[in-house]
Amino acid sequence: MNKEDFPLLQNRDITYLDSACMSLKPEQVLEAVDRYYREFSACPGRSGHSLSRQTTEMIDESRRKVADFIDAEESEVAFTSGTTEALNLTANALDQGKVVVSDKEHNSNLVPWQDREITALDTENGLDIAKLEKAVDDDAVVSLHHRSNIDGSELPLEEVSEVVHDNGGVLVVDAAQSVSHTSVSVEDTGADILAFSGHKALGPTGTGVLYVSEEMQDKFRKVKTGGGAVNDTSFRTSDFRSFPHCVEAGLPNAAGIIGLGAAVDYLENIGMDRIQEHEKRLSELMRKKAAGVEGLQVLGDRGEGVFSFAFENIGSHQVAEILDTKNIAVRSGRHCVHSWFNSKELQPSFRASLHLYNDREDIEEFFSAVEEISVLN
Ligand SMILES: Cc1ncc(COP(=O)(O)O)c(C=O)c1O
Repeated sequence: MNKEDFPLLQNRDITYLDSACMSLKPEQVLEAVDRYYREFSACPGRSGHSLSRQTTEMIDESRRKVADFIDAEESEVAFTSGTTEALNLTANALDQGKVVVSDKEHNSNLVPWQDREITALDTENGLDIAKLEKAVDDDAVVSLHHRSNIDGSELPLEEVSEVVHDNGGVLVVDAAQSVSHTSVSVEDTGADILAFSGHKALGPTGTGVLYVSEEMQDKFRKVKTGGGAVNDTSFRTSDFRSFPHCVEAGLPNAAGIIGLGAAVDYLENIGMDRIQEHEKRLSELMRKKAAGVEGLQVLGDRGEGVFSFAFENIGSHQVAEILDTKNIAVRSGRHCVHSWFNSKELQPSFRASLHLYNDREDIEEFFSAVEEISVLN
């Protein structure tokens, strides 16, 4: 779908199947970034001249676009460098003593919580809601992925949200793998806090979003300090600004944020329903093809857009290297979900992940190479 909009796919002979790590960028995003640097690049929110004002307006516009995109208010959206920064800020802001995660969280949604009592809920046969209910009270944060970066499976966040809130807990959602693949609404997910990466959603590198509902925002004062985060200071005291400014200290990544606004426009012009439908069809083909390769193991649960594979007798790094010689880009390893691989005593996998610019031909190419490799097993 829309392959021609992605310059990298025009400039290189490559089958790109590593979008769970980072998506490619359409021409429209590159143009927005380029235009910022060529036409009005300046220090936003500080200097009073017209270049600065234009930059500030463009950042405000991106904030509006992102807020609309996830059904939030502008005042609830902060820009970060990615999901990792957003979740670190969140862990530093919240003071609950208990954290409930799933057994399949990215290190970015596990390591920042490791200074508290952690309960990791199994997801193999679906999240056990009764166990979740037992683990949540008013001293608990429940921090879960929306879609897994191992297998694209989704957690039932609406149901989770009800249980978490009925029991006085706070719900944090890591939406790094869902935003830009399916419609994500903070209202529908019931998230109090939600994080995602712009660079996985067709936006520039070094961009991310932290949504914090109005009720939770006070907790975020002082988690990041410096210029832009304060109204006034004396030598010993500071008057801190409210959210989102209190987590946006320092010069913002104006080019990236403006590019992220263009990415949101691009996604909305195509339509999230169409993107989801396209990836669903490709995922069905992936599953069908995978079932036909002798010895190929598919790890994890059934999901959309992300597939982790392994052969018993060929290392996954070796598979990825062979694929690379055939101009097929996949990722191999434990995909920053070491805890899941370790707890299940699984070897690293090679992961193929999709985005809207992939097509059936990419999948045919991938499986014809995997078939060839399978004889080494
Ligand atoms: C589910 C999930 N959470 C968090 C992250 C971290 O995102 P970033 O590296 O953009 O901060 C990733 C990246 O792969 C991810 O897949």
